[in-house]
Amino acid sequence: MKTRVLTITDPEEDIKKIQEAADLIRAGEVVAFPTETVYGLGANALEAEAVRKIFEAKGRPGDNPLIVHIYDVNQWKDLVEDIPKQALLLAEAFWPGPLSIILKKSSLIPEEVTAGLDTVGVRMPAHPAALKLLALAGVPVAAPSANRSGKPSPTTAGHVLEDLNGRIPMILDGGSSCVGVESTVLDCTGEVPLILRPGGVTPEMLREKAGQVRIHSSVRRPLFEDEKAISPGMKYVHYAPNAPVVLIRGSVYSFADYVNRKALELEREGKKAGILATEQSLRKCRYGIRLSLGDGNNPSEIAGNLFACLREFDSLGVDLILAEAVEEKGIGLAVMNRIVKAAGFHVIDLES
Ligand code: TXA
Ligand code: MG
Repeated sequence: MKTRVLTITDPEEDIKKIQEAADLIRAGEVVAFPTETVYGLGANALEAEAVRKIFEAKGRPGDNPLIVHIYDVNQWKDLVEDIPKQALLLAEAFWPGPLSIILKKSSLIPEEVTAGLDTVGVRMPAHPAALKLLALAGVPVAAPSANRSGKPSPTTAGHVLEDLNGRIPMILDGGSSCVGVESTVLDCTGEVPLILRPGGVTPEMLREKAGQVRIHSSVRRPLFEDEKAISPGMKYVHYAPNAPVVLIRGSVYSFADYVNRKALELEREGKKAGILATEQSLRKCRYGIRLSLGDGNNPSEIAGNLFACLREFDSLGVDLILAEAVEEKGIGLAVMNRIVKAAGFHVIDLES
């Protein structure tokens, strides 16, 4: 299959291209499209056969459910059994935006979308090209991140092409995703909303609107062996570049000292270390291949750079990636969750 890439500069001017993508979705095909979080791989959420093509293109395990994307809140009512007041309030506050709300699903949603669960995650993305595509398609669109399963999520059309060239018919290129990490997955089926995956809408932002909000323990630590994964995504390897990743906690000084020693040691063995850290910390690092996450005082910038850096280490062919821990505040919680997962929870704490 040939993968066509159509560039969208302005959703109004480029409406014909978006219409082509919408036609593909209506015809039961898959299309990759930009969202403000990461690129998605979309298909008609109401057609089991179309949804199966997503799993096939990504190589995604069949028991990992998909998020359904809408452009109008009215579409939501048909997809779920009931919308509790609190969920509606959160949607009104944060949609369009990086928040996926999980509720009991209606019978309209085929089980391929939810991997047999009785709940469905729904979100309204904020990217203008995504909203236009969803409106023209006129159907709810199931869309996971448009990467091969296990790889870091794509934040550019180029990343999607790297992973899915020849496997999907079309990519809409709407530039870099501005948030850079995926949406917050919030389970609203209980009394107190529960964050299953931290993302663009932070716990602080949610608490301001909803009062109490819990964070699932697996956000920071691996699941115990006998523990049930509420979100099946929790149990899989994620965001992993080719080289192993180690997360390092410590002060700027202890971090720099550790990675300088480790990178030099690897260099002597003829291997390459990749160093992933804030601009401030990188100034103190002298060895290895250094990629900047951005300004240490700007967590949004760090979130925006994270996945592109992990992918770049692949193309640079490093043997080990040493990543600096960032503060788990605001969107920093999502950044740390992704790095910890990329590292398979391999953490070195220099202060303890
Ligand atoms: O920002 C995003 O959410 C992007 C863009 C494309 O919208 N999409 C995305 O989808 O990240 P995906 O499939 O890569 O991640 C969805 C996550 C998975 O961890 C999945 O297990 C969880 O959400 N999830 C989906 N439906 C669920 C449900 N009904 N219950 C629990 N977890 C669910
Ligand atoms: Mg994903």
